[in-house]
This record gives sequence, C-alpha cells and structure tokens, in this order.
Amino acid sequence: NNHKSDSRGALIVLEGLDRSGKTSQSSRLLSYLEGLGHSVESWRFPDRNTGVGQMISSYLANESQLDDHTIHLLFSANRWEKRSLMETKLRSGTTLIVDRYSFSGVAFSSAKGLDIEWCKAPEIGLLAPDLVLYLDIPPEKAAERGGYGGERYEQLEFQRKVAHSYQILRDGSWKTVNAWLPFDDVEKQLREMVLDSVTTCQKGKSLSKLWS
Ligand code: TYD
Repeated sequence: NNHKSDSRGALIVLEGLDRSGKTSQSSRLLSYLEGLGHSVESWRFPDRNTGVGQMISSYLANESQLDDHTIHLLFSANRWEKRSLMETKLRSGTTLIVDRYSFSGVAFSSAKGLDIEWCKAPEIGLLAPDLVLYLDIPPEKAAERGGYGGERYEQLEFQRKVAHSYQILRDGSWKTVNAWLPFDDVEKQLREMVLDSVTTCQKGKSLSKLWS
C-alpha cells in the first residue's frame, strides 16, 4: 500500500450550514497549505460556472422554479461534471479543498422531505473524500451572523431542518469543529486535521468511491 504511485493529493470537504464559515476557512486553509509548499486548489459546489451550474444559480436566486427532485439531480450532475477533473488533479498530487459536496446535496434535499436513500443514489460512485470537516454551528447563531443573502435556502426555519439532516448523515469518520468559536481558533483546529490528511495521502492511499 506504500507504492510511490499511490501518492496523491487529498480530497478535503467542508460541510455546514449557510454562514457556518466554510468559505472563509477554505481560503485560509488554501493559503496555509500553499505556504507549506503543497500543490492545492480551492473548489466549491455548486460550481456555478458550468451550464448546469447556471441553472442551479438561477434556481437559488428564485429566478426559476424546479421540482425538488429535478434540482437535486442537477446539483448531483454538477458534481459528476467535475468528477474526472477531480480525479486527475488528485492523482497528479494536488490537494482539493472543497466547499460543499454530496453531503450538502443530501442534507438540503432531504430537509425538504425527499427520501434520504433516494437522495444518496445519484451520488454513488463519486470520489469519496479523505476528510470531511463539519463546521458545527447552531442555526440560530448562524442566522445572527447576518448576511443571509436572500437566496432560496437562507432562512432559519429551513436551516434547522438542514442541521437535523446533517446529524443523520454524519458518521464517525467526520471531524466536527465548533464553528461558533472565534475564526482563528476554528482555523487552528482545521489546520491540524487537514495537514494530517494531506500527509497520509502523500504517503499513499487508494482513492475510493462514495456510498458504494
Ligand atoms: P453555496 O454556493 O455554498 O452558498 P453561498 O452562495 O451562500 O456561498 O450553496 C448554495 C446553496 O445550495 C446552499 O444553500 C446549499 C445548497 N446546496 C444544495 O442544496 N445541494 C447541493 O448539492 C449543494 C452543493 C448546495
């Protein structure tokens, strides 16, 4: 298992409610790893730059209406669009810090009442993260931070349901960080976890698939 050819970048995913601080922490982690000389990129889902991403973006802005199942499959398709590039990057040694992934897909759609197994199905076969970091914040605290941009899901009542879905989805492999601590404290905890994962993948770890 320690063949040099197994050496690769790490797939690191940040999950959490809206306003949990994922985006700021992703960019801090990016600078941190770059500073240590690692090859690293910051990604996010939805990736609004693709054709599918533009449909998602207009849905989120309430500029278009879509059936709950349909939008769920679009979010998933948006990840499938990027799957092969993701694999290429990881195999070439680049670590990816990804702001939201399949877990957001399942948490948000199942919060609307869709069956959780149905929600997971289209995600099967995407690359499994090496590390899932959950930025844990009570929905009320996240709402207090303000700056809910008025997008479709940015409402306290709905975020409570999403928090509940995340709780169901979370397993022992996730690392949970208390995200209502000061940003610097959160960052410090994340740094350690991330570095650990990057080092493990660098030594050699095979890529696996999600939920198969
Ligand atoms: P995001 O772009 O992270 O939000 P922001 O514009 O605030 O940075 O995500 C937009 C919304 O889409 C967010 O409320 C979570 C939701 N979402 C899903 O419902 N399913 C998904 O698969 C993903 C990735 C996000």
